[in-house]
Amino acid sequence: MAADKKLLVIGSAGMLGRDLMDVLPGRWQVMGADIHEVDITDPGRTELFIADRKPSAVINAAARTDVDGCESDLEGAFAVNAHGAGNIARACGSIGARMVHVSTDYVFDGLARKPYREGDPPNPQGVYGKSKRLGEEEVAKTLQEHIIVRTSWLFGMHGRNFVDTILRAASRTKRLEVVGDQRGSPTYSRDLAEAIARLLLTNYRGIVHVVNSGSCSWYEYALAILDSAEIPDVKVEEITSDRLSRPAPRPPFSLLDCSLYEKITGARMRPWRDAVGEYIKERGKAAVSVGSVHR
Ligand SMILES: NC(=O)c1ccc[n+]([C@@H]2O[C@H](COP(=O)([O-])OP(=O)(O)OC[C@H]3O[C@@H](n4cnc5c(N)ncnc54)[C@H](OP(=O)(O)O)[C@@H]3O)[C@@H](O)[C@H]2O)c1
Repeated sequence: MAADKKLLVIGSAGMLGRDLMDVLPGRWQVMGADIHEVDITDPGRTELFIADRKPSAVINAAARTDVDGCESDLEGAFAVNAHGAGNIARACGSIGARMVHVSTDYVFDGLARKPYREGDPPNPQGVYGKSKRLGEEEVAKTLQEHIIVRTSWLFGMHGRNFVDTILRAASRTKRLEVVGDQRGSPTYSRDLAEAIARLLLTNYRGIVHVVNSGSCSWYEYALAILDSAEIPDVKVEEITSDRLSRPAPRPPFSLLDCSLYEKITGARMRPWRDAVGEYIKERGKAAVSVGSVHR
């Protein structure tokens, strides 16, 4: 296998990481590492780990993703999401590897009226968003050969997500309350993994937005989930976010414009509703372990 075919996925046990481990082999020789093999907050160990394996590209799917938990652990959030990303970038630089770094819509404040483009000024509000934004900056200033992929509202077979939360709640109660004043684009982690594979085949450097097409509020998302799962007898009531009083602020509007991704790859992300429908079918086929809460 040629050296330029070797990829290393860090965070390979996470929701996106596991889909990357499924999608990337075939075209590439793929190595995975989870936190037990490399803790990205340790710069020396990260550098040695990457230098030993000599990948042509490293994909960083590792992160501290508990948005509310980050509010009470600022140091932990920045250690992983900001400096951990920087540690990987430095390690890539020392062996001439490319890096794909995954980031988030939470780098924006959500006050826009039209979907965010890559050049729009970030203005993260919570600790998670601030730590992810600093991660983007550390990667960009450390390593020229980088792609920063911003995405949003992930769901997939291998992690806690909103689809599972709604389906589990619907099995217990006939009435749900879901917020209607935050809009975004649900994105299937498997579709994102495939998009990352496409991006790896290009020479693009810089930030790129990748989400499933279309948008919805969490309330509309819940209705679509129940519809796709053919659960007609659960009533969903639309509420406002202030009713939930969660520790971390959420951007009220976090749509990401994907036209740059379409231009770079010639591909278009499918509508989020189609992706949710497929996920629910796949989920029905597999026994998945699920948790609660969205991000
Ligand atoms: N989930 C979403 O809705 C969403 C939305 C937008 C962007 N994103 C971004 O997408 C990427 C993937 O998210 P995801 O949902 O797949 O995350 P995830 O399921 O939480 O997976 C993250 C993985 O990183 C690992 N990790 C944590 N700290 C680490 C460390 N110090 N060293 C090495 N590995 C470490 C975690 O291990 P442990 O489980 O043992 O901690 C976990 O396996 C992240 O960059 C995230 O910020 C996610």
